[in-house]
Amino acid sequence: MNHKMNILEAIATRRSRRTYSQQVLTHADTTYLSSECRRLSEAPAYCHALDEAKLPKIILQCNAVTSAKLGTYGIIKGATNFFIMASGESESDKILAGMRMESLLLACTGLGLSTCWLGGTYSKSAFQEAYDRINRTQTGNYTYPEAVSIVVPVGYGTEEPRFTEKIMRRLCQADMRKSFSQLFEGVASPTPQLMSQLISGTTLPSDVTTEDAVAVALECVRLAPSSTNSQPWRAEANRDIKGHLTGITFRCATNNRLSAFDMGIAYCHFIKALRFFGIVFDMEIERPTDLPGAFFKIRKNNNTV
Ligand SMILES: Cc1cc2nc3c(=O)[nH]c(=O)nc-3n(C[C@H](O)[C@H](O)[C@H](O)COP(=O)(O)O)c2cc1C
Repeated sequence: MNHKMNILEAIATRRSRRTYSQQVLTHADTTYLSSECRRLSEAPAYCHALDEAKLPKIILQCNAVTSAKLGTYGIIKGATNFFIMASGESESDKILAGMRMESLLLACTGLGLSTCWLGGTYSKSAFQEAYDRINRTQTGNYTYPEAVSIVVPVGYGTEEPRFTEKIMRRLCQADMRKSFSQLFEGVASPTPQLMSQLISGTTLPSDVTTEDAVAVALECVRLAPSSTNSQPWRAEANRDIKGHLTGITFRCATNNRLSAFDMGIAYCHFIKALRFFGIVFDMEIERPTDLPGAFFKIRKNNNTV
């Protein structure tokens, strides 16, 4: 990477990659990513809504001998480094886990590394064994969940995707995103020019209105990865009597084992984008039945606009 990406660029650039070159991770990247795994496994949830959620534990397994040992059913090729995450069973446990792992994936994109979320196509027993082996050597006061739920290969993607990778992308229609208006109500889609100017730095976050900033944050949700590209995130604007934006209500259109991870990933993108603009917000979950949906109350915009 010859320049530092801002978070919008990392979100817009990230793609799932399933073919990796033999190039090894640098010592600096390995050290940084290991410390990020620790930090993200230890930091308390920064929003009241997830106070009760169990922290996930993420481990970096480097230089795994072959993908035959740490199997991915032939879906991933060439990867020798993996993040392995154990997380709790409840909806809020999975939301928090989704947020934490996606934060790590975006950091990888910023370093020029490729990744791919795996919630199904990995050998449960082999990765559980690898996780248990590393976990045994790390002690601490907090009792983490033990069952591995997500695996993510990390490394340098090859220039060209191999045939299987192209087929996988076609099977889950990875390049077919729902439109902004299919997903979100009550907010107009941001212009492509605004996105690219914010990425290049020709428009500063402080020059953008709250309305446009929230639209960009929702666009960042639209670009998120999701299991089988299901894109289950739906959102609606809340407004006061004068029409000012007061918040965004998210709900989830699917109900399966990975839905809450998908929502956690979306919240990660949304929160990181709101922070980029200096928007102060609260994430609220009023009733457990709303889960994995959540309400984001827009409290204050630090922008001058
Ligand atoms: C929670 C979750 C689980 C996933 N599980 C798998 C998986 O088991 N195997 C796989 O090849 N891809 C998996 N993916 C990757 C998705 O297929 C991919 O994110 C989606 O097709 C969109 O493509 P993109 O990430 O390139 O934008 C998963 C993604 C998420 C978010």
